[in-house]
Amino acid sequence: MPVNVAVIPVAGRGTRLIPLTKSQPKEMLPLGRRPTVQHVVQELAFSGLREMLFVTGPGKTAIENHFDIDTEMVRHLRTNGKEDLLAELDFERAEIDYFYTRQRRQLGLGHAVLCARPFVNQRPFMIALGDSLLGLNSRSDVCRRMIDHFDREGADAVIAFQKVPREEVVNYGIAQPRGDAGDVFELSDLVEKPSVEQAPSNLAVAARYICRPSIFDYLERTAPGKGGEIQLTDALRSIIQDGGRILGVQLAPGEKRYDVGNFESYFQAFVEAALADSQYGPSVAKHMRKILAEYPED
Ligand code: UTP
Repeated sequence: MPVNVAVIPVAGRGTRLIPLTKSQPKEMLPLGRRPTVQHVVQELAFSGLREMLFVTGPGKTAIENHFDIDTEMVRHLRTNGKEDLLAELDFERAEIDYFYTRQRRQLGLGHAVLCARPFVNQRPFMIALGDSLLGLNSRSDVCRRMIDHFDREGADAVIAFQKVPREEVVNYGIAQPRGDAGDVFELSDLVEKPSVEQAPSNLAVAARYICRPSIFDYLERTAPGKGGEIQLTDALRSIIQDGGRILGVQLAPGEKRYDVGNFESYFQAFVEAALADSQYGPSVAKHMRKILAEYPED
């Protein structure tokens, strides 16, 4: 069965970004000209996914509004001779079907995925975190590569991984590869936020997963971990422990992960997105070169 559906969890509270997230979803934070979640949807569409199920929660209606077709705005732009701006709304007309369900209690990423069960039913599906994108121009085909390996190898799950500096493994789920980790590798374990000394590699989970519907049974059985949250990593780990086969696909050079979930990574992502803008990037770069002279390295 082809992977055609993407589940995009966007129900998290975003507490690390308070007060920014007090009354707006972190997934709507701008990266250059577009909100983060629009980058995510366009990245998924580039890899051929056509059904998007958002798992939303309190205070997230801006996301639903963003993907509606805004005929009023189109009429306004036409009437006022601003046809050039219409192209910016082309994404509204992409051949994508949008669906929404609610996570009624924020019990973690694993629980958010479980909320997708009635919609996903018996289909394999992609999970794409709504606060993280891979590459800035929606041209990363890592999801396509993941789908290809999933189809070809009949794995139980496929996870995207990025290499991170050794000292940063403490922030991520880290792969323990079976043998040497090439571009595609098999996992013998997945360790959540290990210490630098105990990390089995520096390959960090990178916000994209393909799962079979069997993951739902595993999630049902997963006990809440830290903060009472049901962790997706724990369920994936159980699949490996039961003899299941999970593949890792490494991001290619240039397929950097941008995560807006904390201030440091959000600021870095925003700066890079502004620099990558085809119209304003060069002048932003010029400005930054000038002001950086006032910020000596420490
Ligand atoms: P995070 O792990 O960053 O959690 O979510 P969070 O709750 O949003 O943020 P903090 O820790 O309070 O700052 C990763 C993705 O999973 C979604 C988030 O919306 C985000 O896109 N998520 C997280 C849910 O949908 N539900 C949850 O219960 C938790």
